[in-house]
Amino acid sequence: MARILLGVSGGIAAYKALELVRLATGSGHAVRVIQTPASRRFVGPDSFVALSGAPVLFFEDEADPLRGAYPGEEPAGELPISHLALAERADLYLIAPATANTIAKLAHGFADNLLTAAALACRAPLLVAPAMNERMYLHPATQQALSQLKARGVQVIAPGRGRLASRGEEGWGRLAEPGELLARCEQALAGGDGHEHERSLAWLRGRRVLVSAGGTREPIDAVRFLGNRSSGRMGYALAGAASRAGAEVMLVSANAQLPAPAGVRVLAVQSAADLEREMIAASPSADLIMMAAAVADFRPREPADGKIKRAGRKRLTIELERTGDILAQLVGARRAGQLIVGFAAEHGEAGILEARRKLKEKGVDAIVYNDIADPTLGFDAEENAVTVLAHEGERRLARAPKPTIAEGILTALHELGATRQLADTSA
Ligand code: CTP
Repeated sequence: MARILLGVSGGIAAYKALELVRLATGSGHAVRVIQTPASRRFVGPDSFVALSGAPVLFFEDEADPLRGAYPGEEPAGELPISHLALAERADLYLIAPATANTIAKLAHGFADNLLTAAALACRAPLLVAPAMNERMYLHPATQQALSQLKARGVQVIAPGRGRLASRGEEGWGRLAEPGELLARCEQALAGGDGHEHERSLAWLRGRRVLVSAGGTREPIDAVRFLGNRSSGRMGYALAGAASRAGAEVMLVSANAQLPAPAGVRVLAVQSAADLEREMIAASPSADLIMMAAAVADFRPREPADGKIKRAGRKRLTIELERTGDILAQLVGARRAGQLIVGFAAEHGEAGILEARRKLKEKGVDAIVYNDIADPTLGFDAEENAVTVLAHEGERRLARAPKPTIAEGILTALHELGATRQLADTSA
């Protein structure tokens, strides 16, 4: 458990810093917050005080009621205490969100408020998470400032691409999600240099990746179907993460209402039979196949041509037949050097045992296990928590947004040794 100093500068994304404080304190870390005066326009100190359990500071000449102590520590007895005690005593200093203005000041060593002064005084790892609109982020002034910071050993947590906080704006510059920010802090606290992330995904560069996502729909008649609650978010997040890491990605998507991830070829399908056909057709050239779709195990044996009428019926029986097991066919047809990953959504205590059984019996290289007992996770949810099971070990990934979980899954495949069998071992 560490003393984390969090510097919040003035951007709309400051609201995400609240969630970060909640996650970090929930993981047992002691958090103190410094805000720039401008950030007060976006999030008031009271919210940070409530979540961190400690006062928030803004100015260099401001007395710290806790005299440099972090939550859970006794304030020092004697005065004076340096106004920079918080920075000197931190195990890590994270600035999130970091605006273009704050980044420029950090690059040049300005000390015009407590946040920037603390960055000069701090000898602990410094992490900076930019958040701003795309044009400001891509401007050479900002990019040069970030390069300067990196050259000095500052870890820059790259922003994502997507909808930005300001209404109607899209692009690069979206603050990394709170779960990722915390994960990066914990890596840095464990002695990481901030490049583990890229290294652990480097094996994907130039690979061909085939992902299935979403939930299949099996027609009952011309207007009705048997379906499931899968939104496709996990598969889309995996496809996006693999593409960002330099893979050539094809996504076979069953009924997902999501935008295509950048650079990913998306093929839309509906039924298990469609999905089966497309996956089998695309599989021979894939290096990695991830079967994240929720596939119907049964389908109506004889879907009606028109619409089944209500009149004259008291009950209706629909006979179901088995669908093909796509994963089993992919495993049966696998070529040497191909990596196949299955998914298992299970319920309750025995779930992990069931997932271990599936890993052994299905002939796959790994299983991503999802406990669906918690309705706020997994199916049709923004967040997930999974366990990656490979033949040489298991890795549990704590609750986080699906894009973070996706990178965690791809990293775990590598770290658990599953990628060793990929055809060309340059990875
Ligand atoms: N799957 C598949 N074809 C099917 C059903 C499932 O390829 N007709 C894939 C899923 O995409 C998933 C994996 O198989 O990657 C495991 O799915 P799951 O439903 O957990 O497996 P089952 O063997 O059907 O087990 P259960 O009896 O628990 O339903």
